[in-house]
Amino acid sequence: MNLAGKTALITGGGHRIGRGLTLALARAGCNIILHYNRSAVPAQATAAQVEALGARVLLRQADLSQLDDAGPLFADLPANFTPVQVLVNNAAVFPKDTLADMTVAGWSQTFRVNLRSPILLTQAFVRALPDDEIGAVVNITDWRTERPYRTHFSYTVSKGALDAFTRTAAIQLAPRVRVNGIALGAMLPPAGATEAYWRSVLATVPLARSGGLEVAGDTLLYLLRNDFITGEIIRLTGGAHLKM
Ligand SMILES: NC(=O)c1ccc[n+]([C@@H]2O[C@H](COP(=O)([O-])OP(=O)(O)OC[C@H]3O[C@@H](n4cnc5c(N)ncnc54)[C@H](OP(=O)(O)O)[C@@H]3O)[C@@H](O)[C@H]2O)c1
Repeated sequence: MNLAGKTALITGGGHRIGRGLTLALARAGCNIILHYNRSAVPAQATAAQVEALGARVLLRQADLSQLDDAGPLFADLPANFTPVQVLVNNAAVFPKDTLADMTVAGWSQTFRVNLRSPILLTQAFVRALPDDEIGAVVNITDWRTERPYRTHFSYTVSKGALDAFTRTAAIQLAPRVRVNGIALGAMLPPAGATEAYWRSVLATVPLARSGGLEVAGDTLLYLLRNDFITGEIIRLTGGAHLKM
């Protein structure tokens, strides 16, 4: 897919990894529908950076845990935006729980944001895509679905289901829409993480460093541009997935 002039919708695009992905899309020539929930100020700052790169940007606020119909996020675009042809499902929650202490309410909130909303967004994206256009979806997932955390039960199971959704949607939406994923490893320390915690994480990475925003953005652009990849989930881990 040639990204120049295409419209891309990214969830949670205003800060941290989402911001890196948003700016990569803008640098590649995409106009951006930048979704945020609570982070209005970072979203506005990222929107200004997008405009400084010469791309157009539209901010859309939504609590994805309350989403029943994602159609409005793709509707009523200004005349200088083409229909959305790229969807990046980045927003997620990362609560701490275990099988022993998880609650139905906590589980449900995690699944609503991490799994249900990417599914509803993908459905609405396809419905809004003009018949004569191709599209591409990239889901941001986590390599720890293969080597589960002891500490993030609902999150890990929700991302594992997102992996299954990625492959299932790739089959169901071919040949017009490709669906891929990026299974991130250590990219940015979680909010509030101590330096000692992050050092201990990086000690498990064979390449002995974190990935960072540029690496994530490059991988996103690779998956979007390569028209023969679908149903693929690229591990972006610095080799961490190879270690026992
Ligand atoms: N950081 C890492 O090293 C790492 C590793 C593996 C996988 N990942 C994955 O990479 C993605 C981004 O990670 P991150 O560390 O940048 O995440 P983060 O800092 O926790 O940001 C999460 C994003 O999700 C949005 N979000 C959360 N709850 C929402 C809700 N109810 N409705 C709408 N939006 C909601 C937030 O929007 P607002 O702030 O606007 O509310 C925010 O933009 C996630 O999918 C994560 O699982 C990250």
